[in-house]
Amino acid sequence: MTSYPALRMRRTRSAPWSRALHAETILAPQHLIWPLFVTEGQGVEDPIASLPGVSRWSVDRIGERAKEARDLGIGVIALFPNTPHQLRTAGGEEALNPDNLMCRAVAAIKHAAPEIGVLTDVALDPYTAHGHDGLVDDAGYVLNDATTDVLVAQALNQAAAGADIIAPSDMMDGRVGLIRDALEGEGHHNVQIMAYAAKYASAFYGPFRDAVGSGGLLKGDKKTYQMDPANAEEALREVALDLDEGADSVMVKPGLPYLDIVRRVKERFEVPVFAYQVSGEYAMIEAAAAAGAGDRDALVLETLMSFRRAGCSGVLTYHAAHAARLLGK
Ligand code: PBG
Repeated sequence: MTSYPALRMRRTRSAPWSRALHAETILAPQHLIWPLFVTEGQGVEDPIASLPGVSRWSVDRIGERAKEARDLGIGVIALFPNTPHQLRTAGGEEALNPDNLMCRAVAAIKHAAPEIGVLTDVALDPYTAHGHDGLVDDAGYVLNDATTDVLVAQALNQAAAGADIIAPSDMMDGRVGLIRDALEGEGHHNVQIMAYAAKYASAFYGPFRDAVGSGGLLKGDKKTYQMDPANAEEALREVALDLDEGADSVMVKPGLPYLDIVRRVKERFEVPVFAYQVSGEYAMIEAAAAAGAGDRDALVLETLMSFRRAGCSGVLTYHAAHAARLLGK
């Protein structure tokens, strides 16, 4: 007979060393992917109003960020260009320019910190005059097969510039397989594909669209290609297809409102799963902290830990550098 209570769950929580010893999940800088916005100009740091603390950087300053990431233990940077408006067209041709902002930024990062992995987003929204991720017909419908042709060329352009991870965020059907084939055909055998497999038509992308300058241009919404927040089984089908087509890893996006999807994907497929804690999630935490509704540092680390606990290998987060600094203390 044991005395009351049979087991004291608080026993292992009673000292910091014991809490550390019993921690089931580890969050470290190596689990963070840092999204950065690039813009034209020289010596530019251009703050983004709806993303307090996040800026667009000119290409000549992106190398500093790469060295910062390296010194903080962050392994991967994700790049998003704010393409000059005069270069945005219906067909998004600037995405294929080997000297576009994205390609120059990739080269600058590789030059400054060759050990940093570079992830590039495949989708046409930073390059189109209508703000959609693909080509649209006269009725405004985003065409699938015409778009995938362009996405393949965009992915090859990024790989040629030195991208390590190609991340299609466009949600067109069949694009992962086409991109994989094209990469193999061009000898890019070790260029990975991280598929935005389950990407929802979300209200949390607003500040990002400001950051890449597509928000004001967007006509309509993205509901004919991005997923309905009501659906989970459909996310599993999307993931199954992308894996079948050769994705090395899959992403769920947004993050916090879709942790159930992360968990189901991880349990079902046992593959590397990533989450994108998107711009609106970042803004929500910053707004809560600014309003005195919570401690910023604690909110950041707790949410990032939740992704790891749910099954994520890593998280794309605008808090990456800040979180890495906290974790390094
Ligand atoms: C574009 C893309 C978006 C994000 C990443 N890639 C926006 C969208 O689909 O409209 C959102 C990221 C964020 O909100 O932080 N294909």
